[in-house]
This record gives sequence, C-alpha cells and structure tokens, in this order.
Amino acid sequence: MIDTHAHYTDSRFREDIADILSRIDSSDEIEYVIEASTSIEDSINAIELAKNNKKLFALVGIHPSDADEIKVGWEDELRSLAGYDKVVGIGEIGLDYYYDDVDRDIQKDVLKKQLSIAAELELPVVIHDREAHKDVIDICLESGVRGVFHCYSGSIESAKQLMSKGDWYFSFNGVVTFKNASKVREVVEFIPLDRLLIETDCPYLTPVPYRGKRNDSFLMRETFKAIAEIKGISFEELERITRQNTLRLFTRMETF
Ligand code: NI
Repeated sequence: MIDTHAHYTDSRFREDIADILSRIDSSDEIEYVIEASTSIEDSINAIELAKNNKKLFALVGIHPSDADEIKVGWEDELRSLAGYDKVVGIGEIGLDYYYDDVDRDIQKDVLKKQLSIAAELELPVVIHDREAHKDVIDICLESGVRGVFHCYSGSIESAKQLMSKGDWYFSFNGVVTFKNASKVREVVEFIPLDRLLIETDCPYLTPVPYRGKRNDSFLMRETFKAIAEIKGISFEELERITRQNTLRLFTRMETF
C-alpha cells in the first residue's frame, strides 16, 4: 500500500514518531508514504523526515489556513525547497471556506502563486478543497497543472469536469468507511480506477472500526478493503492499480 497523504510532522506524533517510522520502514504492507506540508516551516520538517526515512517522500507547500502567515520571499523559498531530494510535488494547497479563518482573496492569491510555481517546475500538486469546489476547480483548470484532489469531497459532475479538461486524480481515505458517507462511496464507485489514489490524512480521519483513535498508515488497510469492495475488485488488484496511479502522477518518486 502507498499512503499518498500523511502528516507525520503533526504534534500528535511527537512522542512516538521514531517508533512509527521504524515500523513503516520494516513493514511488508507499506511501500511508500508521501508527507504533505502546510507551511514553509512544515515543508522543511517534511524534507528532513523524507531524507532520513527511505520509504518517505515529501510535498512542499502552504495550506490555505496558513496563507495569512506567509513572509516576504516565501515564493523563492518554496521554489528552492521544491528542488530538494525526495520532494515529489507541491502540497497541500487550495481553498478552505469551511473554517473561513483566512480572507478568501489571500487564499486565492497564495493558491494561484503556488500553482504557477508548480507549472514552472513541472511538478504535480495536491489540492485541499473544503466547501470551495467551484473556485478551486476554476483556478486549477486555468493553471494547466496536473494533480490530485486529496480527500475528495466534490460531486461526480465536478470530477467529470476535472478529468475532461485536465489531468486530475482523486484521493480517498478513512471517510469512505464512515456510516454517514454514502455520498462519498457513490463518488468512489464512479471514479475510474486509473484516476484513484488512497491516503490516510493521518493523524486525522481514522477509518472504522478505529474511529476515535489517532490515524496512521497501518490503518489504511481498512480504507483499501472498503474501496476494493465498492469497486468489486480484490485488495491486491486495488493495491496494484493505485500504486501505478501514484507513480504516474508523482513521476519524481522513481528518480530518488
Ligand atoms: Ni492533509
């Protein structure tokens, strides 16, 4: 299994991160983990984690909820961080109208600038879209970059639009196992197999039956089971297909 979106720099892992990473390292189940970043500082930490752990890769980027804390020169800094070993994309970036704690124009500006850095460096992006579907889709399609909508919560119609006008993937996590998530399961059923990625978003969004516990990459097998069942294929087939998709999107993974 490949976990395409994790946050091991989160404070909830502070006490036992060394133990978790060594279990991932010796695991037969987990092949790779992609660590997503939320700020410049977090990007530096993610690069450090990836450098010291052979199964880890890093994304660098500024989350919309951190978009009001950027400092002068952040674009050059991000551009240079994107050039480090084991950095495979720009993320997570996007718009968040749910918390709405950062001015929407600032969020849009920081998103657009990061998309243009991704375009310039020919890197894929990882998109965070919470209750901002239309604006995110318009801005992403206009940018011409490729990438994945992580924890996809949009409609089937929006997915069709993204696939017909651009090179976009859709990633799902423990939410597909939640009792009240029948809409997400319908979307999973629709998404073509060659556009599907799987992630944890750990420490958040722990799958059933572990809800309430902190999430980690090992619990992702519950998500794989649920999605394999929805798609009517075996666990192994889903592993094989999502592995191919991940390497096709994050082309740098095979170069490190
Ligand atoms: Ni995330």
